[in-house]
Amino acid sequence: MEDIESISASIHDDITKVKNLKELSTLETLYLGRNGKINELLKKMKDKGPEERKTYGQSVNLIKENFIKLLISKKQALLTTANNDDYIDVTLPGNKYPKGSLHLISVAVEEISRIFEKISFIRVSYPEVEYEFFSFESLNMPKTHAARDDFETSFIQAPQHLQYGKMLLTPHTSSGQVREMWRVGTPPIRMINIAKTYRPNWDATHTPMFFQFEGLCIDTDINITHLKGTLDYFVKAYFGNDIEARLRPHHFQFTEPSFEVDVTCTVCKGTALVDKQRCRVCKSGWLELGGTGMVHPNVLISGKIDPNIYSGWAFGFGIERVIMMKYGIDDIRNYYSGDIRFLEQF
Ligand code: DAH
Repeated sequence: MEDIESISASIHDDITKVKNLKELSTLETLYLGRNGKINELLKKMKDKGPEERKTYGQSVNLIKENFIKLLISKKQALLTTANNDDYIDVTLPGNKYPKGSLHLISVAVEEISRIFEKISFIRVSYPEVEYEFFSFESLNMPKTHAARDDFETSFIQAPQHLQYGKMLLTPHTSSGQVREMWRVGTPPIRMINIAKTYRPNWDATHTPMFFQFEGLCIDTDINITHLKGTLDYFVKAYFGNDIEARLRPHHFQFTEPSFEVDVTCTVCKGTALVDKQRCRVCKSGWLELGGTGMVHPNVLISGKIDPNIYSGWAFGFGIERVIMMKYGIDDIRNYYSGDIRFLEQF
């Protein structure tokens, strides 16, 4: 019984001295381990007489229970009392991890897709490595036509297709027009083709790879008012309700008549003045958005659509350009610089 009393007393002393979880764990082994003090006591059971054995066993069990209770409350105290190594302050804010976000081009692609989805346009993506036929011939630009020069095309070293000609990096998303006509077959067609396009330019407003979005609408009785209505809808949805679109006569091989689209300058709001000075961004109150027009009958014919029954309109705009206009960004090379200080602002 002497052993029991001394161990019972040392438990209290030992637990009080413990300063951290590591020491507590050592103490646990010292008492509860296979060769620990408590097991040593139990081993002595066999030496006791039948009478004594019962009370002895009960006392050892009591010590064990008591030790476990003290162990648990000591652990609790170590974790919740300030000024020791194991203290966990649950009121502290958690660690903050840096959060990534979508690239501003991806955000714009999604936004533009949503705007056209609402008026039943189907989003497609046609090849960026394309055949001459889809980028030019099918769009009323026969071989050797001078208009092809405007597009400064990069050709690919690849075997030539008997019907579709050489391979190239498409300089515009208009190459998706006839592909879409072939895919759908009989109109109505409402397409928004968003893809990468290529031209060998590199300055503040041009990168050799850029994105375009191409709208195409073909049906019976389609006329310019539908085109103007859709452009108005788009510029208000994307730039804001105070922005207007206007059409300016122009020339493209694949449309007749053709126009360039201008929108109210987002900086001077169409007044051409900023602080009584001429607006340096637009100079005129208008910013050029891109090209548009009524689909040329020859293009409908390439698409196996009868121009006597159907008519349509198309447009092609640059994504980098619309973002630039919306946020007043002055150098689009920033988009592709990978500079996180620029990108994280969007
Ligand atoms: N493809 C022309 C370009 O890249 C833009 C364009 C003009 C597209 C008129 C059209 C259009 O669909 O009708 O510059």
